[in-house]
Amino acid sequence: MAILHKNYSLKPYNTFGIKAKADYFFQFDTVNEIQSFLNENSVESVNYLILGGGSNILFTSDYEGLILHPNIKGMETVEENDDSVLVKVGANEDWDEFVAWAVSNGYSGIENLSNIPGVVGAVPVQNIGAYGVEASQVVEKLDAISIESKKQVEFKNFHCEFDYRNSVFKNEYKNLFIITHVYFRLSKKPVFNLEYGAIKIELENYDEVNIKNIREVIIKIRESKLPDPEVIGNAGSFFKNPIVETQFAKELLTKFPDCPNYEMDNTKTKLAAGWLIEQCGWKGKHVGQAGVHKDQALVLVNLGNAKGYEVLQLANDIKKSVLFKYGVKLEMEVNAI
Ligand code: FAD
Ligand code: EPU
Repeated sequence: MAILHKNYSLKPYNTFGIKAKADYFFQFDTVNEIQSFLNENSVESVNYLILGGGSNILFTSDYEGLILHPNIKGMETVEENDDSVLVKVGANEDWDEFVAWAVSNGYSGIENLSNIPGVVGAVPVQNIGAYGVEASQVVEKLDAISIESKKQVEFKNFHCEFDYRNSVFKNEYKNLFIITHVYFRLSKKPVFNLEYGAIKIELENYDEVNIKNIREVIIKIRESKLPDPEVIGNAGSFFKNPIVETQFAKELLTKFPDCPNYEMDNTKTKLAAGWLIEQCGWKGKHVGQAGVHKDQALVLVNLGNAKGYEVLQLANDIKKSVLFKYGVKLEMEVNAI
């Protein structure tokens, strides 16, 4: 049943654990409910925001406006053949529970994306990625409601303009479509992605390479590197890894030969923001209650009672020092609201 809350706490809806409130918070269970709400209220004339699990959001103050929170559930196999299945998943299904379900059914493609917080509706927005895999490799299409026309629209994979931590929903269509269902094409014949980091080494402790063991290994690696938001508020990587001209990277490497770098093609190279931030001396530092994680410099943390604007201030200071020392402009991955 749809509910419109007033003066609603957002603390349970952001993994930074920032205390903030929204004037209005509308949660809905079905496509019909949101369509009726949009027909009855001119949402476009107010400040509004679509919110999933809040694991990629930083509230810098109370939210003066309306939050739209899809509570759409459901997981259904809509197509199946010898090679693959197509699974339709509701926006508010927990992402990692879906991964666990896929792995337990022997469907591969998302095991490397294990243990990423958040819900399914947000997955295409920043094209989640980890350990050599991106959501764009398995999202076949999605259904969304246009806030302007109130109609349901289908986006095929190529309409989404997926890129590293990016999609059309972060750019041209930012906040214009509410994703209600995502369709994932999962394989019955697994192709393993084992190249990133310590996956192969960790798998040596297992008798066999299979998607269940890969999931276990990924969870283990992630738990050793990333702080649990239940224990210490955070939103994962705060910045994207910067992609620079390869020529620029080469010049940087002559001065800083240890700088981790990954050539993407002949012209572009990805640098490790965590390394740049650590080298600027930020790792483990804090300003008031806002801090940089002691083991992973790319993760900003709320040490208890940080205000959102304090975290943002810290992020801006970090950006300045990385720009000053390395000439590299960091871009935020987290959505500061
Ligand atoms: P939210 O934070 O609620 O929203 C994120 C964005 O999507 C917002 O702009 C919001 O407006 C929009 N949005 C949400 N739902 C919808 C919808 N239904 N329709 C339209 N727009 C919508 N990310 C990675 O890519 N890789 C990682 O390895 C990774 N690791 C993480 C580890 C930790 C400990 C944490 C806390 C975060 C990590 N993240 C990672 C970031 C985050 O988990 C993902 O971005 C996740 O997909 C966000 O989901 P959410 O439901 O919490 O989205
Ligand atoms: N590094 C440091 N110091 C640090 C952190 C990292 O020097 O404090 C160096 C590491 O030594 C390594 C390099 O940076 O050489 C990359 O580190 P890591 O493999 O831990 O990955 P990351 O770049 O920090 C990215 C994603 C993560 C994703 C992992 C695994 C981005 C912005 N972040 O992190 O995604 O889980 O790779 O694929 O692309 C997220 O988006 O929220 C997120 C957690």
